[in-house]
Amino acid sequence: MSKGWGIASSTIRKKKDADAGPAGPHSSGSREEVLVKRQTPYHAHHATIQHFIATHDEQWDLIQATWSLQSIPPAERPAVFRWARQHGQRLLIAEFEVPAFIDFYAPERMEYIVGRYENGLAEYEGDLVSQGFLIPVLFGYFDRTAARTNWEGPIKGWVDDLRAAGFTLIQTRLLSHYWWADSYLIDAR
Ligand SMILES: C[S@@+](CC[C@H](N)C(=O)[O-])C[C@H]1O[C@@H](n2cnc3c(N)ncnc32)[C@H](O)[C@@H]1O
Repeated sequence: MSKGWGIASSTIRKKKDADAGPAGPHSSGSREEVLVKRQTPYHAHHATIQHFIATHDEQWDLIQATWSLQSIPPAERPAVFRWARQHGQRLLIAEFEVPAFIDFYAPERMEYIVGRYENGLAEYEGDLVSQGFLIPVLFGYFDRTAARTNWEGPIKGWVDDLRAAGFTLIQTRLLSHYWWADSYLIDAR
């Protein structure tokens, strides 16, 4: 039986998926219920990846992280990748292809963010997602009093970091043209 580890979290759904069940259009229950039905054992750990790697030394067939490693500060990322290289046979990462802006508050970066959020707002009906999530996140980009919590960037940067951590076979594949940015799957061994 394969063993996998992933950074868990929640998913925001569009209006058109609202009738498709709590885990999206292709399932009939929560993700946990689907796994139980498939007789796939799982253990949820409520911890940061930094804490997890400091307290776990098992080997994993597959490690996956979807749009979550962007929350790891760049200085801490090499240690996470080295751990994944040493403890996993394969690492799958889903991340966005976001341009690297030299200045965090550069006009070009503001134009990029505002333009993308216009697209995003157009995709959701009602106020729940737009007022409850997108607008607060949008304003958060320009809040100089808030600590930075996101370090997205070009996919090439992820690939370079993975190579530096010892991964030798790294493939990338476009997943979708999302409103915020193109999203890619990075498959590293
Ligand atoms: C954009 S959401 C990802 C959504 C989810 N993985 C998905 O694919 O729908 C970012 C997630 O990263 C998680 N996260 C942030 N910092 C983390 C850390 N240091 N260790 C583990 N998870 C972290 C957050 O809890 C949040 O759930």
